[in-house]
Amino acid sequence: MRHLMNPLDLSVEELDQMMDLACDIEAHPEKYAHACDGRKLATCFYEPSTRTRLSFESAMLSLGGSVLGFSSADSSSAAKGETVADTIRVISGYADICAMRHPKEGAPMVAAMYSEIPVINAGDGGHQHPTQTLADLLTIRKLKGRLGNLTIGLCGDLKFGRTVHSLINALVRYEGIRFILISPEELRLPSYIRDDVLMANNIEYKEVIRLEEAIPDLDILYMTRVQRERFFNEEEYIRMKDFYVLNNEKLEAARPDMYILHPLPRVNEIAVEVDSDPRAAYFRQAKNGVYMRMALILTLLEVKVC
Ligand code: NCD
Repeated sequence: MRHLMNPLDLSVEELDQMMDLACDIEAHPEKYAHACDGRKLATCFYEPSTRTRLSFESAMLSLGGSVLGFSSADSSSAAKGETVADTIRVISGYADICAMRHPKEGAPMVAAMYSEIPVINAGDGGHQHPTQTLADLLTIRKLKGRLGNLTIGLCGDLKFGRTVHSLINALVRYEGIRFILISPEELRLPSYIRDDVLMANNIEYKEVIRLEEAIPDLDILYMTRVQRERFFNEEEYIRMKDFYVLNNEKLEAARPDMYILHPLPRVNEIAVEVDSDPRAAYFRQAKNGVYMRMALILTLLEVKVC
């Protein structure tokens, strides 16, 4: 039985196969409409979510399966003090696969240790978010036609932004990837990613504070929200929250084929005027998340569709 905690749990070959599968699902949805008949997905979300939970549910429903779950810790027995280990033992008897989001780093990993069904990490604290990475990779591959030889700008909260950590883990395995890390000093990439992933793999990167300085060199600009819920004090969040605001004026310096990604939700970091720019790809990215989650469910449940 396989779980997904980190993009590194999937080989580059498997990622490529899943992206091909996702494209086939998008082109021929009817072929997959009954692939998971009779199967159930449990969504155990101890933290807020719109896209991740609903795209998982949409994915399972589009495969003919059913969904059950909870969308906040308050509405589950966690509020009574139940451990994740006990919860997943019980859920293992109710469903065939589980997607779990939790504010504590490592909680889905603990669940996986006690689970009898595949567990997917749907975001654990400020740590990892591998299924967002699946959506990100498919989006980049569709837009640029490749995942290697790209200069990727990661902008915003690189400290707490789990989508950034997972995306870096996945992309360092492709040839010729360069990163420009754009953040205020306070929100720099943690050393466990900078040293243990970027430096350990000899990946070319530079750290800058000003977005304007980085923008002309980029193939992809990945914007992120300042992660309010991970700050120890609100004043610090307020000081940081509008550090970057991408608008049409800043985009004038970008290449005509530099696409803008964002895992969403957006707060102020991308002005609404940018949405109508053909390079704004974040809503397409959210839709790609459904196809990739369908491909992931099929892969983990070992369902083959001919
Ligand atoms: C992200 C997350 O939950 O980490 N959202 C998402 O799943 N698309 C990004 C965020 O909340 O800022």
